[in-house]
Amino acid sequence: MSADHEIDNLLHEERHFAPTATFSAQAIAKPELYEQAKQDRLGFWATQAKQLHWHKPFTRTLDWSNPPFAKWFDDGQLNVSYNCIDRHVLAGNGERTAIFFEGEPGDTRELSYAELLHEVKKTANALINLGIKPGDRVAIYMPMIPEAVIAMQAVVRIGAVHSVIFGGFSADSLASRIDDAQAKLVITSDGGYRKGKASALKPAVDEALAGDRCPSVKNVLVVRRTNQDVAWVEGRDVEWSQAVGEASDEHEAQGFDAEHPLFILYTSGTTGKPKGILHTTGGYLTQAAYTHKNVFDLHEQTDVYWCTADVGWITGHSYVAYGPLANGASQVIYEGTPETPDWGRWWSIVQKYGVSILYTAPTAIRSFMKLGSQIPNEYDLSSIRVLGSVGEPINPEAWMWYRKHIGGSHAPIVDTWWQTETGAIMVSPLPGITTLKPGSAQVPLPGVSAAILDDDGKELGRGHAGLLVLTEPWPSMLRGIWGDPERFKETYWARFEGKYFAGDGAKWDEEGDLWLLGRVDDVMNVSGHRLSTAEIESALVSHHFVAEAAVVGAKDETTGQAVVAFVILRQNQLENAGNDADVSKILRDHVSKEIGPIARPRTIIVVKELPKTRSGKIMRRLLRDVAEDRPIGDVTTLADTSVMQSISGKLAGGAND
Ligand code: WTA
Repeated sequence: MSADHEIDNLLHEERHFAPTATFSAQAIAKPELYEQAKQDRLGFWATQAKQLHWHKPFTRTLDWSNPPFAKWFDDGQLNVSYNCIDRHVLAGNGERTAIFFEGEPGDTRELSYAELLHEVKKTANALINLGIKPGDRVAIYMPMIPEAVIAMQAVVRIGAVHSVIFGGFSADSLASRIDDAQAKLVITSDGGYRKGKASALKPAVDEALAGDRCPSVKNVLVVRRTNQDVAWVEGRDVEWSQAVGEASDEHEAQGFDAEHPLFILYTSGTTGKPKGILHTTGGYLTQAAYTHKNVFDLHEQTDVYWCTADVGWITGHSYVAYGPLANGASQVIYEGTPETPDWGRWWSIVQKYGVSILYTAPTAIRSFMKLGSQIPNEYDLSSIRVLGSVGEPINPEAWMWYRKHIGGSHAPIVDTWWQTETGAIMVSPLPGITTLKPGSAQVPLPGVSAAILDDDGKELGRGHAGLLVLTEPWPSMLRGIWGDPERFKETYWARFEGKYFAGDGAKWDEEGDLWLLGRVDDVMNVSGHRLSTAEIESALVSHHFVAEAAVVGAKDETTGQAVVAFVILRQNQLENAGNDADVSKILRDHVSKEIGPIARPRTIIVVKELPKTRSGKIMRRLLRDVAEDRPIGDVTTLADTSVMQSISGKLAGGAND
């Protein structure tokens, strides 16, 4: 496996941080959870599900008679939006703040649960007026403004299915996702504020829908955020302020089957085509709510919670739009980037709102660490009591820095391992119970069963590294890949019979704690965002300069991994373009335009040949060695062993930019 070399570097971690007695005494999670789940796993999950409001109670917990197609709580009915909003208002907590919104320019907006309910009901009616019915797909392409969460809640309230597409994706990526899901409606905004400027979103939607590329789309609902000029297609485009403004504020939430589809979220796989990961209603909300409460130790009456993820990613679904609201939390939503107007922005937000639980990604932590502790030190961060990390392994150095400078040397850090596919956190310490170990995600949560297998499927014990699998179904598991049941079976369930293969390498240490070792497939993780090598390769070869391309993820100090592309150019095309063409910039811009800025290669390396096996497979392992500046590994299976010499020579010659 590709993570082999990492294992040698694994720290033998000596630093341990036991929970303090004061923290444990008030902690939400009780140590008995582990024992209860072990004794009766399904009973345990049924108990968690019963924390929700069911329009019709379930009597069956799990139907696993047709694996890998699971059904959880399937004779029950519920409404996600009712659980996230109405029930808190009905319980007398309507005045509690649901959302503290902080716009990048400094504008603010506060929504209580009662106000959120009012907005969501009106929006639900506006969607109904636009002809949206249960089961219809609605694409959402929005900045991080309250309307993004309102739109998601309204869509699921009426039993429709959303597909949120991250605002950083290009028109092409948007079009392919809209078309794959056959969305009837796109909800977007004129734009949003990023890096001190109004950046546009609607033009990408217009481009995605141009020329009947997405014939399923009937309407585009547009929120005005920046008031910049936008093109308008009469009969198709609808003003949010008008449609929602004029809609009735009466809407009774009806129950939907627990297995009714809730949302699709596209994520990168090992092929060029993104996968539409499908989640359903009852199991998803059960696990999102349970993990949010226990992993973050949420005391909803006093905590102020802030997850910095965008709603375009799974973290922004489970831990912004659903989990926190299901638990009646007060949360911060921030629109912009951490460096605007300066790198103190996040800490000023923590100080201003008294954030007590902060959930973010290691890339962000490493960026702050690089700039130095003098920046956060200028702010009062004493409200912080729990810190979370997600998206990629957090190195012990960044963990220690996070604890000391953001967590006042006392806040427990929960390093949470999970995936778009798992829907909710699977492996994580529980604050107040677990003795923390920097860099390790530690143990499967109560109710979750994980194992590490070798290539032949043999279970490995302590001290061994292998492939991470989940051995039992869990409530928030994906129910499939939209429109492609075969790919679902093949990608996740074919490698090891009856077990879910996560695609990550992992190791149990001598004390039984889990260490994640990165992806073992052709998926990269750049700043905690999943990108597929195949998708970027196909974007590169779609440019007329490029004959062939191979992409690898190389270690990067800040972003975890960075995209490094090896390309073979078409000489004649290049000559036509003139010799001074800046190939590197042109190709990087091209990828950015095709997929989105997050996929922009850090480095383009022009080569004459790519290392291939005799059967013609590109040997990415060798390219990774070059990209990470390591001695090149075994090349004996290469068809032409001189290729690697010429590539590494080329690199030494400064093709790197
Ligand atoms: C990686 C994000 C190490 C992993 C929630 C996984 C992690 C992929 C961690 C899923 C962690 C996520 N430690 N690696 N705490 N959390 N990963 O679908 O490789 O965007 O397979 O979901 O991120 O990425 P996704």
